[in-house]
Amino acid sequence: MSLTLDFTNMMAGAIKDGITDAEWAEGQAEFAKAHAAVAAMRRTGTLGFFTLPTDNALLEQSLAVAEKVRGTIDDVLLLGIGGSALGPIALRTALRPPGWNMLSAEQRDGYPRLHVLDNVDPDSIHALLNRLDFTRTLVLVVSKSGGTVETMAQYLMVRDALDKAVGAEHARDHIVLVTDPEVGALRKIARAEGITAVDIPANVGGRFSVLTPVGVLPAALMGVDVRAMLAGAAHIIERGANTDLAQNIAGTFAVMQWLADTKHGRRIHVLMPYADGLRDLALWFVQLWAESLGKIRPDGSHTGPTPVPALGATDQHAQVQLFMEGPVDKTVTFIAVKGREGQGAIPGRHADISELAYIGGHTLGELMDVEQRATAGALAARGRLNATLHVDAVDAWHMGALMQCFGLATAYAGSLYGIDAFNQPGVELGKQYAYGMLGRPGFDAAKAEFEALPAPNPKYRA
Ligand code: PA5
Repeated sequence: MSLTLDFTNMMAGAIKDGITDAEWAEGQAEFAKAHAAVAAMRRTGTLGFFTLPTDNALLEQSLAVAEKVRGTIDDVLLLGIGGSALGPIALRTALRPPGWNMLSAEQRDGYPRLHVLDNVDPDSIHALLNRLDFTRTLVLVVSKSGGTVETMAQYLMVRDALDKAVGAEHARDHIVLVTDPEVGALRKIARAEGITAVDIPANVGGRFSVLTPVGVLPAALMGVDVRAMLAGAAHIIERGANTDLAQNIAGTFAVMQWLADTKHGRRIHVLMPYADGLRDLALWFVQLWAESLGKIRPDGSHTGPTPVPALGATDQHAQVQLFMEGPVDKTVTFIAVKGREGQGAIPGRHADISELAYIGGHTLGELMDVEQRATAGALAARGRLNATLHVDAVDAWHMGALMQCFGLATAYAGSLYGIDAFNQPGVELGKQYAYGMLGRPGFDAAKAEFEALPAPNPKYRA
């Protein structure tokens, strides 16, 4: 089990306009400060995600729920948005067989399907509510704040459907609330109605919460080896004790992206796994990197790399043209899975047709591997900065390691960029306008401000 980062193709020794050794030395010095700042936040208890991999009491909360409902449910319906939904989706895609929700109960070994409603589109919600058998469904309502409008709207819809299907007196047995231990509307409901609730520790924010019951509970319900996942995460925390970048993979990822952005204008950070199972990990990473680092600095300047998800080899036929010949403003981080060269033997056929003849006898795993290395090499040959994260497998240990690595890298990057990676003030104004329009008490001023904005001008309509 290992996670390594090869960043040769980010460096000037290998690539035109790459990061120089002198810049790397400067990065190492800046990293020492970032490391100290993050360690201080950890010591004062403001950064809770450090201790998640070893928090057995918290793990037990999820395991107890999973144990209790085992064999009584066919479906888990998770309500949440942002950090409360993207992690569970990424875990399902990576750690359950492809097409999990379409497999039979036997093929799923009796573990339930997982549906994640991460939006409030009425079409999707009605379609799902119409096909679920609520008598065999467990609903997880996931919200750190316990009051996010989209999640509360989902809850109100689902609670109504649940009451109708199983009877109001039994509905609460089909619900688990995943929220802050003390505050918020969900905690109030849990107390008032005696609904089971599990904790998102107060010092863990939404996008850093995948290793709390936000991700661990749905994963445990689906039969994922959550202890292995936490062990992978613990491994990264151990490596994170080092101030030497060569020993600290999360630090290396943060410093290489920060130097590429601030010294070389590579403001767009692509994450491109070569594995379908990691497709949604890239989307999870996008939220983590974007919401954490897109900020206004204390001096009023704006900062934040733009993360972009991609998938190999699929995006070789979509975005790679842009990565190769478009503006020189990107880094591409590949994730390559080792040891799949023997998988998916491709049968030989059409020996007389040159476009097919050479393919037979190779394997799909080999094709993925070769294409990843070929794309990395081609980008390097054109002066395009890239790096490769190598994992041994797409499994629970490596998912825990990858997610903790990106989480820790984000904390370091926040310090390197000189911003607070753990808040999201920029999403507030839009929320306030929406509350005002929906008539939420206390938001009249926001409504008035919204209504004072320039109205659509017919001159600018096509
Ligand atoms: O990362 C974050 O903090 C956000 O993306 C939240 O996860 C998202 O806004 C949902 O918030 P909550 O979990 O409080 O419902």
